[in-house]
Formats: sequence, C-alpha cells, structure tokens
Amino acid sequence: MPTIDPRAREAIRGLTAYQPGTPIEDVQRALKLSSVIKLASNENALGPSPKALAALRRAAGSLHRYPDSTCRAQRAALAKKLKVEPTSLIFGNGSDELIVLALRAFVDPGEQVVVAAPTFLIYELQARACGASVTVVPLKDYRYDLAAMKAAVSPHTKLVFIANPDNPTGSYVTRRELDAFLRGLPAQTIVFMDEAYYEFVGAADYPQTLRQAADRPLIVTRTFSKAYGLAGLRIGYGIAQPSLIAAMEAVREPFNVNSLAQAAAAAALEDGAFLAKTRRTTDEGRRYLSKEFDRLKLRYVPSAANFILIQLGPGAPAVVQALLRRGVIVREMSGWKLSGCIRVTVGTMAENRRFVAALKHTLAR
Ligand SMILES: Cc1ncc(COP(=O)(O)O)c(C=O)c1O
Repeated sequence: MPTIDPRAREAIRGLTAYQPGTPIEDVQRALKLSSVIKLASNENALGPSPKALAALRRAAGSLHRYPDSTCRAQRAALAKKLKVEPTSLIFGNGSDELIVLALRAFVDPGEQVVVAAPTFLIYELQARACGASVTVVPLKDYRYDLAAMKAAVSPHTKLVFIANPDNPTGSYVTRRELDAFLRGLPAQTIVFMDEAYYEFVGAADYPQTLRQAADRPLIVTRTFSKAYGLAGLRIGYGIAQPSLIAAMEAVREPFNVNSLAQAAAAAALEDGAFLAKTRRTTDEGRRYLSKEFDRLKLRYVPSAANFILIQLGPGAPAVVQALLRRGVIVREMSGWKLSGCIRVTVGTMAENRRFVAALKHTLAR
C-alpha cells in the first residue's frame, strides 16, 4: 500500500486503511487451488435469502432509475416489524456507513469519542479521521469493560461505541451491564450500539435496546449483511430518536442505498424461513466447533455471534498460512493487536468439518 500523501488532512496521515478478509479468488489464483472456503468475514454460510434474490432479479429492470432516496418501502416494512415510527429509522450503505454518519453528525474535531479495544476497527479509524480525541478502553477477559468505559466518559464525550455482540471476540454485554452504563451518562453523550450480529444471539440476558432508544440518546444499528446474507449489496439501518436521525439524515448522501439493495432487503425481511435456517445452522456450527476446540484443548471465547475467536499462541500466523494452503481462509488477528489469535466464521457443517480437519492436520505437524 503506498504511503499517504503529505497533503492529506493531519487527522488521517497516521491512519492505516482497513484490511478486509482475503477474497476466495485471490487464494485460488495464488495457490492454484480448485476449492477454497472463506471463513474470514462473518458472512452468511447459506448464501443470500432466496426471496431477496428473486426480488433483486425483478428490480434489475429499473436500474436506469435513481434509487428511492428515502428507502420508502423498506422504511415502512421495517417500521411495522420493529414497531417504531418511520422517522426513527435511517438506512446506510451497510451499517458501516451509519458509523461514519453518526461521527459526521455529532462529533466536532477535538471532541471525545470512547471506544473499546480490540473491537470493530472502523469506530476508531473513522473517529480519528474526523479529528476526534479518541479514548481507548481495553476489554477485560475478552469482554467490554463497561464500568471502565463509563469512567472514561467526560462532560466532553460525544459518542461511545459499543459492539454487541462484539467483533472479534463474539462476547456480549448483558442487559444489567448496559442499564448500569446508561444510568447517569452526561446529557450530550450519545451511545452507539452496533448490533450487526443481533439475529444470532440467543441469550436471555442480551439487552433489547429498541425501547431504550425511544427515550434516550441511543443509536442502535443492525445490518442485512450477516443473518440476511446480503453483505455484497451493502444495506444496514439505524434506529434512534427522530431528532438524532434527522441529524444523520442531514449529512447522508441522497442515494446512499442502491435500488437492488433496497428491493432485496425488503424481501429478505419477509423471509422468516431463511432467517430461521440461518440461526439453526449457526447454532449447530457453533456447538460443533466449540466441542472440537474443547477436544483439541484449544482456548477460545464463547461466542454469541457467527464466529469464534481462538487463542492459538505464537504459532497462529503459521497456522493461518497452513490452513490457506489447504484452501481454508480464516482471519489472522494481529491487525487487532490480538497476535496469537485467529477468528473463524461459522460455516455450513461441511465447511466447519473441513476447517476442523485442516486445523487438526496443521496442529499435528
Ligand atoms: C461489529 C460490526 N459492525 C458493523 C459491521 C459492518 O457491517 P455492514 O456490512 O453492515 O457494513 C461489521 C462487519 O463485519 C461488524 O462486525
């Protein structure tokens, strides 16, 4: 990657661009492998929702038109499903974009943003790009330390980012922890709850945040990229008080969500059978992988999401390379300062078995 031009804004000169998971085609080409599986980006193992695919084909004939800037149909369907006002919703080009819109709407250069580490890297990257003063609070035992994050909040804190469940650990904050955190926060502090993996969580003590978002400065975001299998289309949404949404709308580009994404997401929302199958596949895969890791005496973080963080020790980068040679892409974690760890996405059972066989082969050498 070339170095950043010195004429770039001061805030971004020290930044490193986000490194996505390696695409299947790159590995196939480089290693001349005919079959490669990707368990590196927490995508849906089952592919896209079939109803979404059918809607996409129907929508393709209108590609000469600009998309509906307000996502009207999608907004109405989602508002009904979530039992919120349509004005409480905003749509983004992936939930990634909502992170940027929140920073752009609420944070002036020099204002404080609180993030955890390690967590989803975009919060810190984009907050720094905005010129925010970023306070980084370490996780404790691979979990968000909300007490320490609250202690880091000052009267100048504008945004606090919480990934729930967290990526890359898969751990989650409980209702009780979140309630304690929210109690008595300064009035100008907005909490950004990133629930990209919401649909995978089965725990009874996972917080249901929509009601809380109705009466305090709390932005909840979710996505069609994970459980709905539409990562390639880029559509996510945020739920918050209409005044907070209005601020984010003011800095949103008019046609940020393309028409195919809108059509597919509206159909995916109706595809309850696909969502249920996705949940079953993920639960079964998570159980299978956890049992295999126990058998192999590997340390891992119990996950509420569709991926698992495994602590392998200093050999982790070599394991990632050996898995690649066997056609299995997983995520090496040094970019998160979690050297010694790998993160594997829960796949289909066939993919999970292939990963475990390759891992056993690699660890036995
Ligand atoms: C915690 C978290 N938030 C947000 C995202 C971004 O998802 P989207 O595809 O909706 O932009 C991801 C993607 O991996 C994620 O892990």
